[in-house]
Amino acid sequence: MRINDFYRYKKKGPKISMVTAYDYTMAALAAASSVDCVLVGDSLAMVMHGKSSTVWASDRVMALHTRAVSAAVKNKLVVADMPFLSFRKGPDKAMECVDMLVKAGAQAVKLEGVDGHERVIRRIIDSDVPVMGHIGLTPQSVHRFGGHRMQGRDKASARRILEQAKKLEGLGCFAVVIECVPSALAKAVTSALKVPTIGIGAGPHTDGQVLVMQDMLGLYGDVPLPFVKRYLDGRKLVVSALDRFDREVKSAGFPPERTAA
Ligand code: KIV
Repeated sequence: MRINDFYRYKKKGPKISMVTAYDYTMAALAAASSVDCVLVGDSLAMVMHGKSSTVWASDRVMALHTRAVSAAVKNKLVVADMPFLSFRKGPDKAMECVDMLVKAGAQAVKLEGVDGHERVIRRIIDSDVPVMGHIGLTPQSVHRFGGHRMQGRDKASARRILEQAKKLEGLGCFAVVIECVPSALAKAVTSALKVPTIGIGAGPHTDGQVLVMQDMLGLYGDVPLPFVKRYLDGRKLVVSALDRFDREVKSAGFPPERTAA
């Protein structure tokens, strides 16, 4: 899937599937699957580095992980997140981050929020780097939101999110991620836009869905987030394989003898 396919999928279907990947091994699994596109999300701060929010991710860290992912993913669109602060110091600074991400292999960047970032978004798009928008619960604003809370629950904030979505489309974003809002709002945003919406925790009415791969494979987090479907109990499978290895090492069941031949 490439950028142009997004418009086609919005018009005629099918729905768009996107997963995160942060390293070569997991990205190779995404590449081997039928999933449409891969996001190097700044959620790597939490999933790969054990931080309590995404704001820790820096442009260098994002570039490092983007390089690893793009080494494995040749057949799908690779989108990389612009980390917190990278686009809050003006367009020139933001372009330095874009430069690092594109050189690391990203074909598009994703940027959270819109109000106050219009000049930056326009500058990136004018430089021929496609931008994916991100509204609703934008995790980089966790401190302003006072936690990872559903957004757009009252009329005023739902109207604001709808306006933000339209603004992102007007600025030229090729798709908009809408995170953790009520289904009805995600549905209204989806029908108001010509570009596709990709939902996470926003119900079934968006043009696509994105999940963190370690969440959906049951590898991260003791308790799954309420909107995450676990397609595998990865933690159980991996821990039992490690336990088996440990038992076999201790009981001399592994490794077998090696002969010269
Ligand atoms: O960083 C991330 O993983 C994301 C997605 C969950 C949308 O932004």
